[in-house]
Amino acid sequence: MRFFEKINEIMQIITTKSALQEAVKACKAAGKTIGLVPTMGALHEGHASLVKRAVKENDVCVVSVFVNPTQFNNKEDLAKYPRNIERDAELLSSIGAHYVFAPTPEEMYSTEEMNSMFEFDFAGLDKVMEGKMRPGHFNGVVQVVSRLFYLVQPDKGYFGEKDFQQLAIIHHMVERSSMAGTFGNLKIIDCPIVREESGLAMSSRNERLSAEEKQTALAISKTLFDSLKWAKEEGATVADVQQRVIDAINAVEGLEVEYYEIVDQTTLLPTDTFNHAIGCVTVYCGPVRLIDNIKY
Ligand code: PAF
Repeated sequence: MRFFEKINEIMQIITTKSALQEAVKACKAAGKTIGLVPTMGALHEGHASLVKRAVKENDVCVVSVFVNPTQFNNKEDLAKYPRNIERDAELLSSIGAHYVFAPTPEEMYSTEEMNSMFEFDFAGLDKVMEGKMRPGHFNGVVQVVSRLFYLVQPDKGYFGEKDFQQLAIIHHMVERSSMAGTFGNLKIIDCPIVREESGLAMSSRNERLSAEEKQTALAISKTLFDSLKWAKEEGATVADVQQRVIDAINAVEGLEVEYYEIVDQTTLLPTDTFNHAIGCVTVYCGPVRLIDNIKY
């Protein structure tokens, strides 16, 4: 427990909702603006870029570190999700975060909330790609994100574009759903994918890749970047490029595409033009499920 104290002059780790709300109230009373970065921990440079931006653009930066059980439809995936709060706290402290909110699942949810299925209306955005593969996943994401927004009342919320569908759904929740108005003037800030020098999109799941698998996984981003050139070839159609990406990744031993879909960036529905299109891929690299995307 000693660890869950003020760990330096600036950053404080909070584990209860009431302490978080008290801290937020004091910030608001002092007229400070608040930026929130929701995370599930196992932080990497991608998260760090969100936090640095939140620190720069707000008086106070709150980072939540919570592996949200309600968004996992695979118990093994939840159990294997990497956790290292001490390393996360060190990183967050070194880049200027002010508060880390790291509750237990029991603190975050009642037993009923933990076990019941929340149903939100996302106008179909949750029915494609990740939503099709992971039923209930986005309900769990919105359950926790809306709770964090409620507790922190942030001016800005920071999310990475690697989870492009998640970002689209959060925008929808804030702007158009029945929750509009609930979160005041909250602005969602889209942050670009951060890649390793090799091109591999940064992800907490990369920690689960062996050195060899990490090398194999490079074919994912390489193929996505190649596909930008393929899309410019004379007569290239969306369907052709889509299939070419799937074939190129599947040709690499150790990789298996779950889906690759080129969709409209706003509706997430299949499109037959490269205008305003994004290609979203999910690939198994050994047992690890990786996602990435590319805008055309
Ligand atoms: O993107 C994530 O890490 C999670 O889905 C989020 C937004 C922190 C909610 O648990």
